[in-house]
Amino acid sequence: MRQIERLAEMPEAGPAIEAVGIEKRFGHIRALDGASLAVRSGEVLALIGDNGAGKSTLTKIICGALAPDGGELRFWGRPTAVASIRHAQDLGVETVYQDLALAPDLSVAENMFLGREPLMRRLGGLVPALDRRAMRARAAEALAGVGISLGSVDRTVRELSGGQRQAIAVARAVMWARSAILMDEPTAALGTRQTAIVYDTIRSAADRGLAVVVISHDIPKMLSLADRIAILRQGRTVAQERAADLTLAQVVTLMLGGNGREEAA
Ligand SMILES: Nc1ncnc2c1ncn2[C@@H]1O[C@H](COP(=O)(O)OP(=O)(O)O)[C@@H](O)[C@H]1O
Ligand SMILES: [Mg+2]
Repeated sequence: MRQIERLAEMPEAGPAIEAVGIEKRFGHIRALDGASLAVRSGEVLALIGDNGAGKSTLTKIICGALAPDGGELRFWGRPTAVASIRHAQDLGVETVYQDLALAPDLSVAENMFLGREPLMRRLGGLVPALDRRAMRARAAEALAGVGISLGSVDRTVRELSGGQRQAIAVARAVMWARSAILMDEPTAALGTRQTAIVYDTIRSAADRGLAVVVISHDIPKMLSLADRIAILRQGRTVAQERAADLTLAQVVTLMLGGNGREEAA
């Protein structure tokens, strides 16, 4: 993809994205209590943790959907307060949300360009008709890249299956990302074939120089797909290791925290 070529010029000043000691409370619930991760360009980081560990919350903080109560985000080593999703997008960061964030009443093509309309208007100038044609072609191309054929990108998202919607969310993120992609359980609604394609897409995105964070409960797959694994337990990062240095049993133990007794302090 065109926009990816610019990555080569990016200064390599530390990890593309770093979250350090992130805290987040919802009322009296401590969703995050010292969550950290680091992911470099060209690397896949799997973020693993039990339900409620804080994975989605951490993702939403990195992509500007939520503001943290404490801790620091750094992009290429620079401390950055991500003010909004748009701000993160301006930093080249795209997100596949667990709840997908598609607009059900818009077409597939419109969803692929959702929120980029100002840019389209600027680029489109006086020929909006041509614009729409280009938009549909680009959307179809991106969808083919994740292995789905919907017949037409003019179909309304409401008519599509959960798996098709998930594939659209992945294709959209891959299409727009310039530096990083965050994927929150991107294969949860997918069948075997589609899941394999999304895993291939994740690997090739990293091979093209993107930093990829993927949340998944498929630990064996993450151990083979990811370069590094970050494990979140009760809002805190308890491990961040090279995948090659971890076994499935170790990951499960770190994730669940043994019998809990040795944790008491
Ligand atoms: N908007 C919210 N309001 C209140 N509690 C929330 C909200 N979002 C998440 N939580 C709570 O924060 C904790 C972490 O949630 P989440 O980040 O969704 O975990 P995970 O994605 O690892 O399953 C959970 O206890 C969850 O119930
Ligand atoms: Mg979640």
